[in-house]
Amino acid sequence: MTVARPHRPGRAAGVFVAGAVWAAAAAAAEPPAAARACAVCHGPLGLATAPETPHLAGQPANYLAAQLRAFRSGARRHEVMAVIARPLGDDDIQRLADWYASVRVEASAPP
Ligand code: HEC
Repeated sequence: MTVARPHRPGRAAGVFVAGAVWAAAAAAAEPPAAARACAVCHGPLGLATAPETPHLAGQPANYLAAQLRAFRSGARRHEVMAVIARPLGDDDIQRLADWYASVRVEASAPP
């Protein structure tokens, strides 16, 4: 399965300005390897198509990370997500949360 990458024009501008900023941006632009397992339900960019699966794209990183930790600990109960979250380390969770939070989502008012 291929995971679509969000197009990020303008990110390259940071390369020569600040190495640290560039490193952070590059990390966020690439989906973490662990996200391959999420795409089947949450979509390659975190926009789910199944009715009972929430979107992850554009949600606050803190919120996403807190939910993943809660699934992992059992504080938030869901049979599937508990199994998915169990093997994730804190670093995996942070990378996944940062990446989905970095996906840009546009919304418009209903017609
Ligand atoms: C087999 C399908 C499936 C896979 C694979 C899956 N999820 Fe989920 N995920 C769900 C469903 C269904 C829910 C809704 C859980 C509920 O109703 O409480 C959910 C909920 C979540 C939530 C909570 C979102 C919210 O708005 O509260 C997060 C965060 C999440 N998943 C992240 C992930 C990540 C990261 C991966 C990959 C490592 C992943 N999921 C893989 C089905 C899946």
